[in-house]
Amino acid sequence: MDKEKFYITTPIYYPSDKLHIGHAYCTVATDAMARYKRLRGCDVMFLTGTDEHGMKIEDKAREAGVTPQQYVDNIVTGPRGVLDLWKLMNISNDRFIRTTDDYHVKAIQRIFKKMHDNGDIYKGTYKGKYCKPCESFWTESQLVDGKCPDCGRDVVDAEEEAYFFRLSKYADRVQRLLEDTDFLEPRSRVNEMVNNFIKPGLEDLCVSRTSFTWGVPVDFDPGHVVYVWVDALSNYITALGYLNDQYHDYEKYWPADVHFVGKEIVRFHSIIWPAMLMSLGEPLPKKVYGHGWLNFGGEKMSKSRGNVVDPYILAEMFGVDALRFFMLRTFPFGSDGNFTNELLIQTINTDLANDLGNLVSRTTAMAEKYFGGDLPAGGELTEADRELKVLADEVTAGYERQMEAFQFSNALAEAWRLISRANKYIDENAPWVLARDEAQKPRLLSVMKNLCEAIRVSAILIAPVMPDTAAAIFQRLGVPAEGQTWDAARYDLETEGWWKTAAGEPLFPRIDMDKALAQLEQAKAEAAKAALPDLEIEPFTEDKVDFDTFCKSDFRAVKVKDCQPVKKSDKLLRFTLDDGSGADRQILSGIAKWYKPEELVGKTLVAIVNLPPRKMMGLESNGMLISAVHTEKGEEMLHLIMVDDAIPAGAKLC
Ligand code: MSP
Repeated sequence: MDKEKFYITTPIYYPSDKLHIGHAYCTVATDAMARYKRLRGCDVMFLTGTDEHGMKIEDKAREAGVTPQQYVDNIVTGPRGVLDLWKLMNISNDRFIRTTDDYHVKAIQRIFKKMHDNGDIYKGTYKGKYCKPCESFWTESQLVDGKCPDCGRDVVDAEEEAYFFRLSKYADRVQRLLEDTDFLEPRSRVNEMVNNFIKPGLEDLCVSRTSFTWGVPVDFDPGHVVYVWVDALSNYITALGYLNDQYHDYEKYWPADVHFVGKEIVRFHSIIWPAMLMSLGEPLPKKVYGHGWLNFGGEKMSKSRGNVVDPYILAEMFGVDALRFFMLRTFPFGSDGNFTNELLIQTINTDLANDLGNLVSRTTAMAEKYFGGDLPAGGELTEADRELKVLADEVTAGYERQMEAFQFSNALAEAWRLISRANKYIDENAPWVLARDEAQKPRLLSVMKNLCEAIRVSAILIAPVMPDTAAAIFQRLGVPAEGQTWDAARYDLETEGWWKTAAGEPLFPRIDMDKALAQLEQAKAEAAKAALPDLEIEPFTEDKVDFDTFCKSDFRAVKVKDCQPVKKSDKLLRFTLDDGSGADRQILSGIAKWYKPEELVGKTLVAIVNLPPRKMMGLESNGMLISAVHTEKGEEMLHLIMVDDAIPAGAKLC
């Protein structure tokens, strides 16, 4: 029988700045849901990615003196970028889409054309307000105190020839979708959408721009680029192969089972996105779930408010599983939550160190002490054991109900009922007392086996949220991890047979609150000090330079005296060069991906030497090495320009 499919997505992230823990919240939740569905035997497609076009990225790149593509590449694939963060957070996405991927760009052009050809996109003049950071158009009446209603920042006047999407045509159908079905959850968000956006009259949406170029070009009307939300929302289908040949899973996975999105982008997903799909004649996603924000100090965590929490620091100090657990256990998914370090540490100490960690440590330590870790089948069952089994069955059912409703916090609370009950079972049955009496050995064995079974079932339930911890627990229990699927989440002493447990270090050592808070402060200060001016990328030049300007460029042959990797940078190499002047010249170059430092010593290279000095990672770079760059099979290739060793250091190239 075919497996049931489950297609789940996160929003695709703006790589305008490095991501923070607020961004990780949705991705961790999506990951937990994807893992849960895999556990249940579903054929899961979990998509995430990056939304790389728009005026804001173009502006940011200009400020940084790089091309928009270089800018986004650095934040997506560079050190501590989006891909690194998802690896760190143990995210198990099946696919990753970048809206700058060729196949997506082509598919967007086809999508735009299709809606144009069916009469839903027409040309007009756009006059209105635009919020650059949100990439959102607003009408005057939608502004709050003259500012963007989403982020509260200033908007700018915008007027230009533009294409419009007939959103108004779909207003009734979208309203019925929202009001008459459970398309949008939590339900509270429905009223907000209907009352604030649909009832006041849904206007046609401006879907192209001419005042900037960093976007998908409208192929039948040069000068226009596609509105970034049309481009971004479509990722959910282009990533499956819709109107492109890169993938071929559209029939299999579409419609999406659920789009997880933050509450401020529910509007795009529950009004614009279904209307676009209606226009394209494609099925609608089954559900959009609008989750709350992680706040810090009472406000949404965001770079512009300067209240972001760095996931790297937290993961390093407390472990990734603890962080994942904290986010999903503490804050109900549909509501906002206030992140504090104190709450994080408290949750780790209570739920993880005291409850779960202790249960596993005590059980495995006793199994070791009384049975050398060997727990053969058998042993009598008492009423108290049966009670544990009944509770386990109840908990599993409750957990399932909660997970199916995306209530991670409640689902974990269910699992913790079993964990707490098992801890109490230890105290009630006092294995250390039983151990004193040889005649009680069979009872002692059965107590230990019941405990192991309760732990095993709990570990399956926590596996989607804390995959590494679950794996560590299975190992300590001596049960094969592969077998621990949803079907095995049934408390069943009879069939479990032989166990070989192993005691070990505590899974979650208790954290000293004061010490940890001080360490966090210090780590934050150090990170701020080491914060790189995100400039590990070479500057770009304009398309054309006049001859005089070109002649000012001073290219020289330089000989590599020494070459070293730069600490804490995956990209940079530090060159000490002989440039013929008698003094050493230092140049930093982001080429570590292509060259080992030692293989470059002694080589004669070409450098431009009259650029102003630039600081990277706290080191000064005086010039730039020249290389040839090209793309091969989608991968960027780089070759330093090396010249004949007979050319002396310092020789001028002209
Ligand atoms: N690029 C758009 C999404 C396009 S989807 C077709 C976008 N990107 S974003 O990077 O700004 O935000 C991505 C997600 O992160 C959004 O769902 C947003 O709600 C979420 N979060 C950003 N900061 C957050 C918190 N502080 N807390 C919880 N989620 C937050 O929007």
